[in-house]
Amino acid sequence: MVNPFSILKEDVKTAFARDPAARNTLEVLFCYPGLHALWLHRLAHFLWRHKLRLSGRLLSHLNRFLTGVEIHPGASIGRRFFIDHGMGVVIGETTEIGDDVLLYQGVVLGGTSLVKAKRHPTIGDNVVIGAGATLLGPITVGDGARIGAGSVVVQSVSPGATVVGVPGRAVEEERRPVLDLEHGRLPDPVSEAIRHVLAEQENLAQRLKRLEESLKVHQDEPQQEKPDGMAHG
Ligand SMILES: CC(C)(COP(=O)(O)OP(=O)(O)OC[C@H]1O[C@@H](n2cnc3c(N)ncnc32)[C@H](O)[C@@H]1OP(=O)(O)O)[C@@H](O)C(=O)NCCC(=O)NCCS
Repeated sequence: MVNPFSILKEDVKTAFARDPAARNTLEVLFCYPGLHALWLHRLAHFLWRHKLRLSGRLLSHLNRFLTGVEIHPGASIGRRFFIDHGMGVVIGETTEIGDDVLLYQGVVLGGTSLVKAKRHPTIGDNVVIGAGATLLGPITVGDGARIGAGSVVVQSVSPGATVVGVPGRAVEEERRPVLDLEHGRLPDPVSEAIRHVLAEQENLAQRLKRLEESLKVHQDEPQQEKPDGMAHG
């Protein structure tokens, strides 16, 4: 079992990683409603899973009152989750969220049906959802996807895609991961520049050769005989 203190430390570390405005640990501990919302949700989710449904609901209601973030106690949320600013976030009962997910204020992960079944989104790992975005229904958002601020998304999103607008449209389908560990495959700008200079030099040499050849032809051409009358002045 994972030590709860190491999880708390990880959450504080996540706040530093996700918010450049975070200055010190005390500030993060006391002034980050997104963090408080997550911690209260973990307790509420624990109660919910142990059939203490009303206690879970009451705690989630208190959470909403204190932080402005409404997370149903039934929602399952992965590690290193962070809500920046917090206010106005709504996460529905059957929502599933992976690891390393970042939400901004006003994000809604809501349902479109009244049926008591899976009716809220499933969010993969490393997903970023911009301020005020609304994701509706049992859709899937693939790993590494980004949802633009203010978008309304009702269709599943492919891994790595960036979706913006109303209704959400993909602007960039597959973002390739940066090859930061495969140094042998990184482009080399110096050799690229040398290759370019050599190609240009070859091009100039060819043009010069053609020019010289055409001039030589003209030089080798026999001088035209001058008319007799003009030959002796
Ligand atoms: C979606 C997002 C991640 C895309 O960032 P990006 O990869 O740098 O993309 P770009 O800015 O190059 O934009 C790509 C295209 O999407 C459009 N676009 C970007 N964000 C958009 C949005 N929220 N709504 C509508 N269109 C958007 C751009 O105008 C651009 O369109 P074009 O190709 O027709 O010119 C980013 O724009 C975003 O919304 N981030 C959320 C940040 C946030 O909520 N911060 C809150 C801080 S409090």
